[in-house]
Amino acid sequence: MNIAVKPQAAVEDVSAVPLAELNPGRAKRFQDDTIWPVFERLRREDPVHLTEESEFGRYWSITRWEDILAVDTNHEDFSSAEGITLINQEALEEQRKALGDRPQRRGAGFITMDEPEHGPQRKAVSPTMAPANIAKMAPIVRERAGQILDSLPIGEPFDWVDKVSKELTAMTLATLFDFPFEDRRKLTYWSDVVTNQPGHGPVTSWEQKFKDMYECFGTFQQLWNERLDAEPGIDLISMLAHNPSTRDMPLEEFQGNVILLIVGGNDTTRNTISGSVFELNRNPAEYDKLRANPDLIPSMVSETIRYQTPLAHMARVAKRDVEVGGKTISAGDRVAMWYISGNRDETRIERPNDYIIDRARPREHLSFGFGVHRCVGNRVAEMQLTIIWEEILKRFPRIEVVGQPTRTFSAFVHGFESLPVVIPARN
Ligand code: HEM
Repeated sequence: MNIAVKPQAAVEDVSAVPLAELNPGRAKRFQDDTIWPVFERLRREDPVHLTEESEFGRYWSITRWEDILAVDTNHEDFSSAEGITLINQEALEEQRKALGDRPQRRGAGFITMDEPEHGPQRKAVSPTMAPANIAKMAPIVRERAGQILDSLPIGEPFDWVDKVSKELTAMTLATLFDFPFEDRRKLTYWSDVVTNQPGHGPVTSWEQKFKDMYECFGTFQQLWNERLDAEPGIDLISMLAHNPSTRDMPLEEFQGNVILLIVGGNDTTRNTISGSVFELNRNPAEYDKLRANPDLIPSMVSETIRYQTPLAHMARVAKRDVEVGGKTISAGDRVAMWYISGNRDETRIERPNDYIIDRARPREHLSFGFGVHRCVGNRVAEMQLTIIWEEILKRFPRIEVVGQPTRTFSAFVHGFESLPVVIPARN
């Protein structure tokens, strides 16, 4: 029997907070799943909103679909080179202290580059994610997904995030990198190390974080050297190692791209897998539709990517004074494009707060971004999510959520830390 899935914390009265003090980036609201009224109010009353003081310093919030599109497609005026998220100033300071004399890392691969540097590096990676290569990868993903699903316990509670979402994502990333399959969970671990502040993820100190990161870089350096000596292959590392635009990239850039590819394809896909199980349970009529018609899987996948919005925002820094939605954003200001809010913009999407798996245009969402940095892995993500659901439906008519999820403490990664489920035994 399903248990009711309710919001975990009492909802604060957002209308009582003075507009000028509203800080939509507060991670606790994302963890408590109480963020929605904040964005509803901003879209209505102050769609281009300035937060003067916060843990991220001074920053702008863009919350409506059209304005987000205007910023995301304007890479002439909005730079990615100063970092693509809101940056917690206290954590930055701690990191600086912990680094001491060691060099400060700038950027996380080509996602934190502007043109003309960005384009050629993106182009070097793109063929791995193109339809022809995806088609080659699909049977391996299907076979490995089947193995993971066949090993799940039946009739007893387990954590869907750990046993399925993380496993399946690690498995597909290992396939993409041609990374040793038995070590695949290292990819999950490293992604968690990168995206979490010490104390909120798998590590408790900066020292530990640096140690783990260097182990990660060392492993990839070794893979790079091996691929360089071999014939060009279709995996990501081989493509980067043999492509003229990337083969001579400096060490720091190489390390940045490793981080980008591990993180880019990790939490995002993982949290979509968890989100789909959670939302199908909250919306049993939608789950019934899916079971009755598995052809709806691709559109259910897209609807989950919209509804979940695995990356809640991307940030930019204005290169010059720019007007957005009637307000002037000054040169040097940081701007958060809240995809999670744009995806619920009622002026653009019909019944945006409802999870509807057979929408007319399910791929119309902001979750992959727009413009020159639009997610290069979007087709890979859709392929793996579709295959996983095809394999799930073949095996399990029902996966039941049997307790409250815990959610990630982050205004960037919008996801689940745990989700208790049971796969009922078939009589
Ligand atoms: C960029 C979301 C899956 C690799 C991005 C961006 C977003 C995003 C929002 C930035 C867009 C912008 O700034 O305009 C997602 C979501 C995913 C997903 C929601 C899954 C549901 C993947 C996968 C990979 C990947 C599977 C591949 C391993 C990348 C890379 C970039 C990127 C390399 C940088 C592109 C560039 O700067 O040109 N993604 N992503 N992503 N993503 Fe994804």
